[in-house]
Amino acid sequence: MIPSTVRIVDVGPRDGLQNEKQPVATAHKVELVHRLQAAGLREIEVTSFVSPKWVPQMADNAQVMADITRRSDVRYSVLTPNLKGLEAALPTRPDEVVVFGAASEAFSQRNINCSIAESVERFAPVVALAHEKGLKVRAAISCALGCPYQGEVTPDEVENIVRLMKGIGVDHCGVADTIGVGTPRRVQAAMERALKHFPIEEVSGHFHDTYGQALANIYACLEMGIHTFDASVAGLGGCPYAKGATGNVATEDVVFMLDGLGIQTGIALDALVDAGAFISEVLGRPPVSRAGKALLAKREKVAA
Ligand code: HMG
Ligand code: MG
Repeated sequence: MIPSTVRIVDVGPRDGLQNEKQPVATAHKVELVHRLQAAGLREIEVTSFVSPKWVPQMADNAQVMADITRRSDVRYSVLTPNLKGLEAALPTRPDEVVVFGAASEAFSQRNINCSIAESVERFAPVVALAHEKGLKVRAAISCALGCPYQGEVTPDEVENIVRLMKGIGVDHCGVADTIGVGTPRRVQAAMERALKHFPIEEVSGHFHDTYGQALANIYACLEMGIHTFDASVAGLGGCPYAKGATGNVATEDVVFMLDGLGIQTGIALDALVDAGAFISEVLGRPPVSRAGKALLAKREKVAA
């Protein structure tokens, strides 16, 4: 039995935009968040409190958080790699923070400049302080299906970091295919390891679509009953420390598939397509989303 309802976290404003070389105006980031919430997204990853030297695009983190008009039914999350990040994030009142570790040692070093063990040591006080402030903590497990530096990543390596994250008390475990190399059965094997330590409500999938496998991988998760997924409007993004990796699966494509399966998301596809068209226009390129492009073309045909 596949789930009847799915929760989508749109990570476009963060994972999507972090990778853009051209500066994106704060006002455009804010407008994107507004359009996503108007389309029915109830979880939005807004920005990250990381070093602006490492990721210059996220340097306006506090301003974006200050400028968004919040809805009480939307959860706004931000990335916090260390205490410095959390301390900067707290006054901006996020609902949730994300610590991000990796299943591969090599990626941990390149992305956050420390080993897996050191990263977990750094995350522990972040989790404790976030909990003290009443915030939920999500853990992202990068490179769970493959690493741009190490190559293959095994389910044992995934379970190692999942167990460490559980040990420091994170509330949620997001399994991420940073470079989009996972295929359905391998994804299920990785997910099984997360499900050994976290309840199914607190396990999610984060799939980049580099090799066109993301929807198949989401379907493989649905078959297991997993019902929370990250996606990125217009298929924006990638990780600056995973060269060649394309964006997350496009939210429009995920919603089109889930609508077709009769699975509720609460998201209005037309408004979502508009949000994707908006940010793509800001960036000066067509949306990467296949469903988004098809629906825009269909509208034009009807209007002609
Ligand atoms: P470091 O250089 O080891 O840190 O970087 P440090 O503690 O030695 O500090 C060095 C400098 O950075 C100092 O400034 C600190 O103040 C500053 P300086 O004295 O040189 O002027 N600093 C900070 N500034 C602002 N905010 C902070 C912060 N921390 C230190 N939080 C660090 C370590 C983690 C900071 C760095 O490696 C970093 O910022 N990395 C960010 C990497 C990143 O954002 N990657 C993309 C997000 S992860 C992702 O996309 C994957 C995901 O989507 C899932 C998936 O697909 O896999 C989540
Ligand atoms: Mg990502």
